[in-house]
Amino acid sequence: MSHELLARTFDQWSRDGRGASMEQEHGDVVGQVLAQMGVRAGEQILDLGCGNGWATRRLAKLAAGVQALGLDIAPEMIAEAERLHSLTIRARYAVGAFERIDAPEGKFSRVFSMEALYYAVDLDAALREMLRVLKPGGTADIVLDYFTDNACTSCWASKTGVPMHFLSTAQWCAAFERAGFTPVSARRVVDSRGPGDPAQFQPSACYPDWSTWKSVREAGSLWIRATKPKPA
Ligand SMILES: C[S@@+](CC[C@H](N)C(=O)[O-])C[C@H]1O[C@@H](n2cnc3c(N)ncnc32)[C@H](O)[C@@H]1O
Repeated sequence: MSHELLARTFDQWSRDGRGASMEQEHGDVVGQVLAQMGVRAGEQILDLGCGNGWATRRLAKLAAGVQALGLDIAPEMIAEAERLHSLTIRARYAVGAFERIDAPEGKFSRVFSMEALYYAVDLDAALREMLRVLKPGGTADIVLDYFTDNACTSCWASKTGVPMHFLSTAQWCAAFERAGFTPVSARRVVDSRGPGDPAQFQPSACYPDWSTWKSVREAGSLWIRATKPKPA
């Protein structure tokens, strides 16, 4: 797998309007996570795999003077983020890969990422890079819907056409610890809208019936919080 394939794939997602539909799909869970992050005035936050930047903009509004940078491998997602940008907030967007972040060591007090990290070409390198750009004591809040404890998501990889890391909660936590994060904790966040109205349910390749869809929604999203330790 290559960054070129990822860029092509997600450029097409952008042309298909999926930048906007992801805000609709992920907005509730992200809202719950952001509300609990405790972001303080003036923090510098990196949003990895920002898509069209909707969450980057929300991050920038969490407290006075927050600066948020959205990073994404797909140039068309970043172009869409620039078009949607509001001049009243301190957000910016850049094309780049998780594995090579163009920022000095210790630049950010926080890293956030929604539904993106499992696309890393080299997951261990991506986690080490995340650790590098965080300040000591800084935190990563990573949210994922695709993980083995939510078994009904297993078909997603064949649908996206790009390789994806399908790990359990324990494997995700171990990967963060291997990179040098400590402590690392995991919890679930369930979309407060529930599975919706069964009468409106439309079967699809991944969700052939209502009970599959309902179980995915009820399993919720995996929220990992990992801290870069301060020197002893
Ligand atoms: C499923 S989308 C999620 C977008 C956004 N976080 C949201 O919730 O709407 C995943 C995003 O991660 C980006 N991405 C995937 N692999 C990447 C990598 N290795 N480096 C940087 N961005 C990547 C994609 O281009 C895509 O925009």
